[in-house]
Order: sequence, then C-alpha cells, then structure tokens
Amino acid sequence: TNRTFTMLKPDAVENGHTGAILEKINAAGFRIVALKKTQMTKADAETFYAVHNERPFFGELVEFMTRGPIVAAILEKDNAVDDFRTLIGATNPADAAEGTIRKLYATSMGENAVHGSDSDENAEIEGNFHFSGREQF
Ligand code: GTP
Ligand code: MG
Repeated sequence: TNRTFTMLKPDAVENGHTGAILEKINAAGFRIVALKKTQMTKADAETFYAVHNERPFFGELVEFMTRGPIVAAILEKDNAVDDFRTLIGATNPADAAEGTIRKLYATSMGENAVHGSDSDENAEIEGNFHFSGREQF
C-alpha cells in the first residue's frame, strides 16, 4: 500500500515539537489520512509493541510511551513506509542523518521522538489499532 503509520512520542509532544514535526512531514509530501492527540494505556502499549516483549528494554518502552500524550497519524505517499523511515532517521539519534526528524528532535535511543511503521503489513495493523475506518480519509 501507499500508507504508513506514525506516532509523535511523549518526549516530542512534551518538548513542544508537535507543530515542527508535522510541518516536516507535510513538506516531505505526505498527506494526512488520520490525525489525533491521545494517550496510550499500559495495555495499549503492551499490545502495540508486543513484538518487542522479550527485549530487555520492553518495560522502559511501555513506561515511556504511556507517560504522556502522543500524536498518532496515518500518512499517505508513494513508497510511504520506506520514505517515512528515511525522513525520521536511525533509531539511535546519534546515528541519524543530518536533517532527519530524530537528528533534530530525539534525545536518546529510548526517547527518539517519533515512530514509523517498518512494513506495509504493520502500517495497516498499527493504523487500524489507533483509528476506526470512519476516522480515515
Ligand atoms: P519505531 O519506529 O519506534 O518502531 O523505532 P525503530 O523501528 O527504529 O526501532 P525498533 O522497532 O527496533 O524499536 C522500537 C522502539 O523501542 C525504538 O524506537 C525505541 O524507542 C525503543 N528502543 C529500541 N532499542 C532500545 C534500547 O536499546 N533502549 C531503550 N530504552 N529503548 C529502545
Ligand atoms: Mg520499529
């Protein structure tokens, strides 16, 4: 498909970067299909990140992702998944390319400002986790 899913994580929202990040997403040619500010419960985060539940940082990840509001969005563009991951940069901001969202706004490997789906299949699952069909345009 031509869609991806993103969350502006609690660090980015707390630090007042919501508008600047949405502007970079817009400038990179993504169309907003769905958008909302929300806060995940522990159960939400454990489900959303279930693939990581054996990793040593899982507890920290769930704590972080639930400590404050996020901004969730479904985005549309040709080659959306790969182009969005290029726009956000490497998981660890120390390794992220100049000009990427994580280089600009992430503070650490854990608190890295933004999520981007890693496959078309996960983009659909993740988008539908946060948005009903009648919230997607
Ligand atoms: P997402 O777009 O958020 O999925 O990031 P990613 O695909 O670049 O990384 P990955 O899916 O491997 O990890 C998911 C998230 O777990 C990362 O974005 C980080 O927030 C967190 N994470 C990954 N590795 C570590 C780590 O070593 N320590 C901590 N504290 N968090 C980590
Ligand atoms: Mg990932």
